Amino acid sequence: MTDVTGANADVLHTLFRSEQGGHEQVVLCQDRASGLKAVIAIHSTALGPALGGTRFYPYASEAEAVTDALNLSRGMSYKNAMAGLDHGGGKAVIIGDPEQIKSEELLLAYGRFVDSLGGRYVTACDVGTYVADMDVVARESRWVTGRSPENGGAGDSSVLTAYGVFQGMRASAQHLWGSPALHGRKVGIAGVGKVGHHLVEHLISDGAEVVITDVREESVRRIRDRHPQVTAVADTATLIRTEGLDVYAPCALGGALNDATVPVLTARVVCGAANNQLAHPGVEKDLADRGILYAPDYVVNAGGVIQVADELHGFDFDRCKAKASKIFDTTLAIFARAKDDGIPPAAAADRIAEQRMAEARRR
Ligand SMILES: NC(=O)c1ccc[n+]([C@@H]2O[C@H](COP(=O)([O-])OP(=O)(O)OC[C@H]3O[C@@H](n4cnc5c(N)ncnc54)[C@H](O)[C@@H]3O)[C@@H](O)[C@H]2O)c1
Repeated sequence: MTDVTGANADVLHTLFRSEQGGHEQVVLCQDRASGLKAVIAIHSTALGPALGGTRFYPYASEAEAVTDALNLSRGMSYKNAMAGLDHGGGKAVIIGDPEQIKSEELLLAYGRFVDSLGGRYVTACDVGTYVADMDVVARESRWVTGRSPENGGAGDSSVLTAYGVFQGMRASAQHLWGSPALHGRKVGIAGVGKVGHHLVEHLISDGAEVVITDVREESVRRIRDRHPQVTAVADTATLIRTEGLDVYAPCALGGALNDATVPVLTARVVCGAANNQLAHPGVEKDLADRGILYAPDYVVNAGGVIQVADELHGFDFDRCKAKASKIFDTTLAIFARAKDDGIPPAAAADRIAEQRMAEARRR
């Protein structure tokens, strides 16, 4: 066998031998005519067809794209397992700047590759792809969800994502303060975009005091016009140091919890929509050591994937909302397991997800 070194060796290690058990299948796709270069990674189909979005991104190298697809697809296995979905984890990445190279021809070529997997992988939107793109991909394959309402899809997933995050927050309050009510609690939201602004509505209805920040002035103005009682602060650094903050909800970018932010957080709870909030392994322990309760991001932000999974069977908002409501119980179960096993909630969530996948394999 030929020896592989450097980046290639790292990729192959992640693929076949990583501590998390490796991946089932990785497909490298190329269509010269349209310029498509894509990677479809299927981490696990233990619970059902792999489900996860298509990221369209200008990766610096092919190796970086493969690594991202491997990591993202593994994350989807855990997210789908914890959301109680009968789906495994998969993810695809298309290499290139969507502004420059995205075309109908390219998306159709991509759709043919998705179709060639015969339903082992079901795709949806992610960074750089939108419902309109999924409508195009769906002309070549039926293994597509996250489509536009005009084409039978459910549309914007941020409504249910915000609802799920709110349920995770209620569960955190229940665990810490003995009541799920956020009435009278001070909640800071970093990023009031699609998800964050719906979260504000839930919190206001429940009687919470809300503090927000966003790099886009117009996002802040939209909230302050509707709810003048909401306080806006200059930036996230100020928000996380706010005196008397009970809950911090990162709803912008990943990596919000890191070596610089965790030591100065004033909140007792972190529960937000952003993906990959923990900047590196070990941050979950730093949070626990400071007595900060962390509601794992991939558990509480699963409302979106619950919605796209539901769409495959003909979208029903109430059925979906009922499923997203279960995030409350799931989050409580994670905190209980963390306490029993003496580990941080993020590690407890991983254990529960791994157990669910292992049990499914035994069936
Ligand atoms: N939309 C969904 O259904 C969904 C589902 C699961 C996870 N998520 C995750 O939740 C997060 C928010 O998603 P969204 O759909 O609301 O995105 P969005 O782009 O609509 O909103 C993000 C907001 O954060 C703001 N922002 C960016 N950088 C910031 C910074 N440094 N400080 C403060 N604000 C900043 C942006 O201006 C924007 O208003 C993302 O991490 C996303 O991956 C979203």
